[in-house]
Amino acid sequence: MIKCSVFCGASVDGFIAGEGGDIEWLHRPEYETSEAFGLTYDGFIASVDTVVIGRHTFEKVLSFGSWLYKIPVVVLSSTLRQLPENLKGKARLLSASPKEIVEQLSAEGKRHLYVDGGITIQRFLKAGLIDEITITLLPTVLGTGIPLFGSVGVERRLKLIETASANNGFVQVRYSVEKA
Ligand SMILES: NC(=O)c1ccc[n+]([C@@H]2O[C@H](COP(=O)([O-])OP(=O)(O)OC[C@H]3O[C@@H](n4cnc5c(N)ncnc54)[C@H](OP(=O)(O)O)[C@@H]3O)[C@@H](O)[C@H]2O)c1
Repeated sequence: MIKCSVFCGASVDGFIAGEGGDIEWLHRPEYETSEAFGLTYDGFIASVDTVVIGRHTFEKVLSFGSWLYKIPVVVLSSTLRQLPENLKGKARLLSASPKEIVEQLSAEGKRHLYVDGGITIQRFLKAGLIDEITITLLPTVLGTGIPLFGSVGVERRLKLIETASANNGFVQVRYSVEKA
């Protein structure tokens, strides 16, 4: 059985990026010195075999200048025609419904997908395809920005797996999503 997980950082008011995609607030100096706690990024990514990201997240990652991922990436877009040449063998483009994407990757033998990007997460959640959600809440109210869940979705019941907190104010909640 293939599994789909969300692993992201969010403001207390539920934004994953500020206006215009700003993510500076995720990287304050005092955050960099935080001790490891809860489910770490390294621990999570080691359990995943494919990253599935929306175009906006992909464009943000490209702006970093160096490629972030060491495992295969699927970029979702209905507007991009191709990916940069240097990403050959590292990332590929898909455009389909969340169900079709999961079915295709499952048929290829993939077992655990990391679904990332606000709109992308919302579409997979709406389709009933997200199995687990880990959110690390940062001690910030952003007020505006790009929402994790948006304002139009469907009700999903969650089961708490664990909570963890760190001395810099991070609070991590980890849930499994009950099947619709
Ligand atoms: N805080 C965190 O942990 C975190 C994590 C991830 C991202 N972010 C930030 O969140 C922002 C991006 O999030 P976002 O909500 O704007 O968008 P997003 O989910 O990254 O990208 C949305 C786009 O993905 C494409 N897409 C999604 N599902 C698709 C499908 N099934 N088939 C074809 N295309 C599909 C569409 O592109 P087309 O318009 O090309 O069709 C859509 O407009 C960035 O600023 C990023 O840095 C933060």
